[in-house]
Amino acid sequence: MSVEANRTNPFFEESPMNANELLTHYRRIIEISNTLSSTYDLSTLLKRIVTAAKELLRTEAASILLLDEATGQLRFAHASNIKPHEMEEIVVPLEGSIAGWIVTHGEPRVIEDLSQETKHFQGVDKKIGFRSRNLLGVPMRTHKKVIGVMQAMNKEGDLRFNDDDIVTLRTLASQAGIAIENARLFQQSDFIAEMVHELRTPLMALKASTTLLQRDGLPEQKRENIVNTMKGETERLIELTDDFLNVARLESGRISLTVAPFGLQELLAESADVVQNQAAAKGITIHITETDVIAEADRGKIKQVILNLLTNAIKYNRKDGTITVFTVLDTEGDHPFVQVSVQDTGYGISREHQKNMFQKFYRVPTTENVERGTGLGLTICKHIIEAHGGRIWLDSEENVGSTFSFNVPRLDPEE
Ligand SMILES: Nc1ncnc2c1ncn2[C@@H]1O[C@H](COP(=O)(O)OP(=O)(O)OP(=O)(O)O)[C@@H](O)[C@H]1O
Ligand SMILES: [Mg+2]
Repeated sequence: MSVEANRTNPFFEESPMNANELLTHYRRIIEISNTLSSTYDLSTLLKRIVTAAKELLRTEAASILLLDEATGQLRFAHASNIKPHEMEEIVVPLEGSIAGWIVTHGEPRVIEDLSQETKHFQGVDKKIGFRSRNLLGVPMRTHKKVIGVMQAMNKEGDLRFNDDDIVTLRTLASQAGIAIENARLFQQSDFIAEMVHELRTPLMALKASTTLLQRDGLPEQKRENIVNTMKGETERLIELTDDFLNVARLESGRISLTVAPFGLQELLAESADVVQNQAAAKGITIHITETDVIAEADRGKIKQVILNLLTNAIKYNRKDGTITVFTVLDTEGDHPFVQVSVQDTGYGISREHQKNMFQKFYRVPTTENVERGTGLGLTICKHIIEAHGGRIWLDSEENVGSTFSFNVPRLDPEE
């Protein structure tokens, strides 16, 4: 086919590629689509899609941003020009950003000159030392809704984005949308399998106890022991189902916060009271440093976080150890935050395990059999804190102890 023939075919109109180039281009898209369906691993998939976008559109960079429904913010899921650890720290607001515009309108957008664009969220470029000149972004959707944005930045050779680019990026974005949805479903089925497995242990214990209770001539003392075991296992089942429900709700973004101001000191004291007996049984003392900060958050949910951290600090502490709870005023950033830290004198956590701490069902192998637990406590904490726009992290040294910290919004006394 000659270039001349293109002119009469509306499909090729405005395309800077000749027919052969166009054919190779679409062959490559099909090839890429085929490789995408060969893996369920989300991070591998996202990486492939982003690399493909960069290659097919001939741009300096490409990225995928996903909408976090709990916070209404966009976060990088993969970007060719951002390191994974940097990605975690970057949030793009839905309002006042180009990516946010694309998500809310559900339409593609080309920006020829980003320096002229007031909506361009400069935070990202500044953080990663990259200068975006121009950009093409398209919405990414599952069969139900828009879940994020795919964008390509800086077309090589100072060219402009054309209609082919939009079609190509749209095709890749729809592939990405389906892949992400599949991977999420896959993860969900993993969660269900893990959950059922966790439920089996107390259920089996209950079953064994009922069989024992049915025996004739069981001494009264023995009988009482069995009933106590049954009570314990039933409580554990309730705890487990509560945790599962919590994780499921938090993960699906169905979390509603009831935010109001409250005194932090009182909440810390109240939480320490709850775990006092548990601490005393292990000879552990809890110190709370004075604070007059007024937090502005969902009190019940923050209490849940503090209780989770205190319980861990007791469980994974040494006998006769100490726990210190302290607060630090966080003055960086636009909004005032307060940092709350729970420090223990326990086993500590090696570097290798630290990075997995907030993952579902993750438990450090060395303490796994020492203390009972499901490995959901910290996952729940992370969701709650992030829903408040804060973050949670840890500092730890093996055989010395760990400090878990999080920050939440506080009232600014100046205002
Ligand atoms: N303060 C701590 N010191 C040492 N290791 C800790 C500490 N807190 C948590 N861990 C480790 O992290 C793992 C995950 O903690 P997480 O609170 O999520 O789960 P869990 O305590 O095992 O169970 P649960 O779901 O009942 O809270 C723990 O199993 C433990 O190995
Ligand atoms: Mg825990």
